[in-house]
Amino acid sequence: MNLDELNRVANAMVTPGKGILAADESTGTIKRRFDAIGVENTEDNRRDYRELLFRSTEAMRDCISGVILYDETIWQKARDGTPLVKLIEQTGAIPGIKVDEGTKPLPGCPNEVVTIGLDKLTERLPKYLEQGARFAKWRAVIDIGPGIPTHTAIHANAHALARYAALCQAAGIVPIVEPEVLMDGDNDIDRCYEVTQWMLKETFHELYYNRVALEGMVLKPNMAIAGKKSPKRAGVDEVAEKTVRLLKACVPAAVPGIAFLSGGQSDEEATAHLDAMNRIGNLPWKLTFSYGRALQAAPQKAWSGRPENVAAAQRAFTHRARMNGLATRGQWRADLERKAA
Ligand code: 13P
Repeated sequence: MNLDELNRVANAMVTPGKGILAADESTGTIKRRFDAIGVENTEDNRRDYRELLFRSTEAMRDCISGVILYDETIWQKARDGTPLVKLIEQTGAIPGIKVDEGTKPLPGCPNEVVTIGLDKLTERLPKYLEQGARFAKWRAVIDIGPGIPTHTAIHANAHALARYAALCQAAGIVPIVEPEVLMDGDNDIDRCYEVTQWMLKETFHELYYNRVALEGMVLKPNMAIAGKKSPKRAGVDEVAEKTVRLLKACVPAAVPGIAFLSGGQSDEEATAHLDAMNRIGNLPWKLTFSYGRALQAAPQKAWSGRPENVAAAQRAFTHRARMNGLATRGQWRADLERKAA
């Protein structure tokens, strides 16, 4: 393992002013996004849509440090024959790859899942490296509900994350470690805090026992936030303050950076939360974004599958990327949203 190189890439992924575009929706997930805008889920449409994002030169060059790709995309070529990976590299952003193979029900644990995909990972990683990927992503999914999560689910998922991370580092690829606690339930922010703390403690414990070098990884967590169905909303400052407190209690300073998932927050909420955390300042790691929905909802809507809307979609993407770029420095302001509108 070349730890200096892993550390260099990990630091580049969390460069202030920039963050990660999570464009790694599986074919099933992108179908849900396309259904919402009336676009047929074909290979060409998926290619055209992602090409539009990667050709948003200004956003990519100034605000995007890396792009997480789905397996199909890493092998795809743009309409003019240029590999999509090359388009990304030409903007200065780093290509990455989602390597988990989704979730399966966890036996004996009703309503809980475990992420799969370790079996052939050793053989797959060198092929992705050769194709240009310098980092990878693996997402564990923990749900909150009556009686869940169980320790079984927390442990099985943390262990798989750590096994994945160790295999990535051995292959010269920076692992994004994503232990996602869902924000879909009716729980309040404190319950989210408690479960996320449990999952993060277990994850770093497993990373240690699996000999993962913390300097060569990026953490992708959820924020401490109330569930979407909770009657008790938490304000921006409370989310920021509790998330920072939680991360300080769980994430060693050797980790170069933390890149949040958006998890179903509105575009502006995701930006405001990141901004408020960076305004707190004096943090041992960089805090940035690795957003899927919060970066792409606006361009998807603007595009709606029409070639004549490509420029508008690129403007929408550029705007969100800019707003989140400012948030990584604690320099975002709500009135910048209004001005753009
Ligand atoms: P969201 O930002 O839409 O939650 O997606 C990020 C991601 O990569 C989840 O795995």
